Formats: sequence, C-alpha cells, structure tokens
Amino acid sequence: MPGVFIKPVSGVEGEIEVPGDKSISHRAALLGGMAHGETHVTNFLLGQDCLSTLRCLQQLGVSWERQGTEVWLRGTGMEAWTEPTDVLDAGNSGTTSRLMLGALAGSPFAVTMNGDASLRARPMRRVTDPLKQMGAQIMGRLDGNLFPLTMVGGQLQGQAFRSAVASAQVKSAIILAGLRASGETSVEEPALSRDHTERMLRGFGVEVLSEKRLVRVQGGGRLTGQEVSVPGDISSAAFFLVLGSLAGRGELILPNVGVNPTRTGILDALRAMGADIELIDITEICGEPRATLRVRPSKLQGIEIGGEMIPRLIDEIPILALASSLAEGETVIREAAELRVKETDRIRTVAEGLSALGAKVEELPDGLRILGQPSLRGGQASSQGDHRLAMTWAIAGMLSKEGVSVEDIAAADVSYPDFLDVIKKVAR
Ligand code: S3P
Repeated sequence: MPGVFIKPVSGVEGEIEVPGDKSISHRAALLGGMAHGETHVTNFLLGQDCLSTLRCLQQLGVSWERQGTEVWLRGTGMEAWTEPTDVLDAGNSGTTSRLMLGALAGSPFAVTMNGDASLRARPMRRVTDPLKQMGAQIMGRLDGNLFPLTMVGGQLQGQAFRSAVASAQVKSAIILAGLRASGETSVEEPALSRDHTERMLRGFGVEVLSEKRLVRVQGGGRLTGQEVSVPGDISSAAFFLVLGSLAGRGELILPNVGVNPTRTGILDALRAMGADIELIDITEICGEPRATLRVRPSKLQGIEIGGEMIPRLIDEIPILALASSLAEGETVIREAAELRVKETDRIRTVAEGLSALGAKVEELPDGLRILGQPSLRGGQASSQGDHRLAMTWAIAGMLSKEGVSVEDIAAADVSYPDFLDVIKKVAR
C-alpha cells in the first residue's frame, strides 16, 4: 500500500480538542461493567483499543449503549458476568488484555483471550503469574506467557506482590483481581506508574490505600455506577506539544488535557529542554486533574532521562525522540527497556525509523542516544502497525525539509481516529 505523504509546514495555528484519554476510557468501561447501577461516560475515546474493551464486556453479558463519545453501561456487578461463548478479542490492546484478565480472575468460568499479531507477541506472564498465585488457572504458550491464553477463574486469595516492572497494567490487573479475593492484596512497584485505576476505584466507592509505590485493597469491594468525564489524552496532546514547539511559528491551544502527575513526564521533559508550554485553568473532575495547554515555538536542548521519569512518559518516547533529533546537543534516554515490549519494539523501530529520515540515532539496550541536528531531511517511514509511530512519522513529515511518506498511517486509529484531519487543519 502506498504511504500517505505528509508535507513540511512553515507554522501551525489553532485549537485542538484531543480525544479522550485511552487509559481512563478503558477503566471507565471496565469499572462501569463491574459496578452495580448505571455508569455514564463522557468523552470516551473511540479508538480501536477502547472499542475492544467495550466488545469484550458485551461478550461477558454487560449491557451498554453508545452514542458518539457518550457511553452508558448498565452494570449488574461482576458476579453477574457470564461465560463468553467465543474468544475475547483484545485486538491490539495491552490494556484490554491485562486489565480484563485481572477483572476476570475471580469469575468461575473459562475465558480464552486473543489479539492481533503484535499482542500475541507481548509478554503476559507479568500478569498471569500473580493471578495464578492468587488461584486462577491459566494455560497458554510459554507457560501462560503469550496469547491466546485460556483462564479458568475462581476462588482467589489475596497476596502481597512486588512487581519487577513499573507497569500500571500489571498493578491494575492485580488490584482488580484483589477486589474479588479473600483478605488483602497489595502491589509494590519499582517506580510509580499511572494511578488512574486507584483514582477511579475511589470514585466508584472502593477504598484503595496508596503509599508512594505501594497500593492495597481489601477483597469484597463493591463498585457503584458513576458519572465519569474523561479528560483529553496527554499522550495524544504530546504530538502537538512537539509540533507547536518546533514548527517555527504560530500557537497551539489544547483544552481539557489530563495532567495527572503520573502522566506529565512529557511536560517536564519538554520544559526542561526549553519548550514554551503553559498550563492554564487547572481543574479536577472525577479525581483527574486537567488543564488547557498552550504551546509556542522555542529552541530545544538535548536532555538525559531515566529512572522514575520513564513510567511518567513511556508512551511519549517516540515523539520525544523526534523532538530530540531537532534539539541542540545530545539526548540520552535510559532505563526504558519496557519500550521493547510495547506495540512494537519501540527502541528498535524508533531508531530505525528516525535514522531513515536522516536523524542521528543510536539504539541502546535500554533506550536511545540521539544527536540533534538543525533540520530533518524526511523520506519514507512505516508505522509497522504501531499507532504512536504512525503519528510520530506524520509530525516528522511536518517538521522535515522534504516531507515524509508514512506507510500504514491508519494505525493511528488505535488511539486517535481523526489525527490526519486534525494535522491538516492546524498546518500553515
Ligand atoms: C497503560 C499502561 C502502560 C502504557 C499503556 C497504557 C494503562 O503500559 O504504556 O499504553 O492504561 O495502564 P504498562 O503498564 O505496560 O507500562
């Protein structure tokens, strides 16, 4: 298939309402489906990943209705979920897979989960091992590490876990299983990952104790249906923060973007690089802070990032790498080996893709080293089916000298269905 050609711009201008947060949309649907009573979700993300979560819930007997970005779920409690008559298809979505396995681990029936080729290569042991220890039976390739997996849930026992990775999907799966286990379940992570599950569970009436990197829940928690307003996704806003910083002239305004501190690593990193990003009107709705972001052009400097910062911007590393390729000096991203098990191996795919466009990038075992240059040539790049790469290469096209032909740009639909229309609208 021929690529979509994205031409260089001389500036950008406009206001962009980025779509609803992917992580929060998944959780709103899932918790709504686990709760008693009606949950009404507004600004739900219509990306393919979140639609996969809704479809899986339907197969479990949860009744819901959707009109545009509004969703009504009529939950009758997770005890009322019924054995699906077909395989649950999580598509490309790691969050659907891992959170759903956790939520289902206490259900006394068989479920088989599967997904696309990318998901079938992603590690599931990080959730299946703890869920097995709690009492679920799970079978699949590599001792329950790879999809397709079959799980027969049942009586669970609460446990104390130490996760080897800072992963909100792992933490959330264990917490959700813990709600159906006897006694207390706790998860300690090496660095704090996004805490949307903890915040939203509190909104649904469940007590969740958090102390730095440790989260605890008691079994038997009952969820009550809620009103959930989903903020705009900072991971989607990140593409425009980089575009607005480097496009040369103009200003972009991004209203209603979620600024939960476990997600704002990209703001901190870009500002440390010299970006001119302002946060206006910070408010908190449904336990999640949000703000209007305003970005204006600036000169960026290279940066070194690693450690606790990494989980706070893990999904933004592809676009941050592009920003670094146009910054002055060197950028080094370390302790980010988790990138290797995302929708693609993003250390390899980002290094290869950016290099093909003329950037100076070196692949490190756990990150990237990028030597910034005043301009980027452009050329051809493929999303390889990874939504964040599709959007990164499109922004690269706008910031390049010769433009970029992006193969399989449709992959962006996973988290940002009308991305192409939006970039055309703001281009000058
Ligand atoms: C997510 C957690 C992160 C992130 C993913 C969404 C979530 O994955 O990369 O896009 O919604 O919990 P990990 O938990 O594997 O780090």
